[in-house]
Amino acid sequence: MAETITDQQAAGQAPSEADVNAVLDELGISPSCNLISVLQDVQGRFGYLSPWTLEEISRRTKIRLSRIYGVVSFYAQFYTEPHGRHTVRVCRGTACYVRGSKRVLNAVKAQLGIEEEDTTEDMMFTLQTVACLGACALGPVMVVDSTYHGKMDPRKAIGVLQTYRDESH
Ligand code: FES
Repeated sequence: MAETITDQQAAGQAPSEADVNAVLDELGISPSCNLISVLQDVQGRFGYLSPWTLEEISRRTKIRLSRIYGVVSFYAQFYTEPHGRHTVRVCRGTACYVRGSKRVLNAVKAQLGIEEEDTTEDMMFTLQTVACLGACALGPVMVVDSTYHGKMDPRKAIGVLQTYRDESH
């Protein structure tokens, strides 16, 4: 199913109740649904899970809201605040640092016009740094969503980001 970014999302606003209901109707959310899949699908459509969205998921699945919040807070993949469509993680671990990860990070920051833990104005990218991405031999490493990009340098990193921008058009 194609992911979409609405004008509201692009402006960093919460989705309207009508938008949430339309997506939950389309996805056929019911008590028989798998909660993790539901949360992934809905977040895929809105970029994050707003409080009202979680309440509506609770109502439709008949799963207690407290349990849903427990799941959302347990898994790092779920966001309850507006978040970019793509998450860019640059490794700041030692193995990557000695191979130039700082220059990669600075190039990514400059390209996106944001600092760490920020999201671009068009809600396309959120930038994070990570202590180690578990692929030290490939350093410097940058991960976009779940895709690893190894042996990065500033030029390659900017090229990777551009492919994600191109795919969105
Ligand atoms: S230090 Fe960068 S992946 Fe381990």
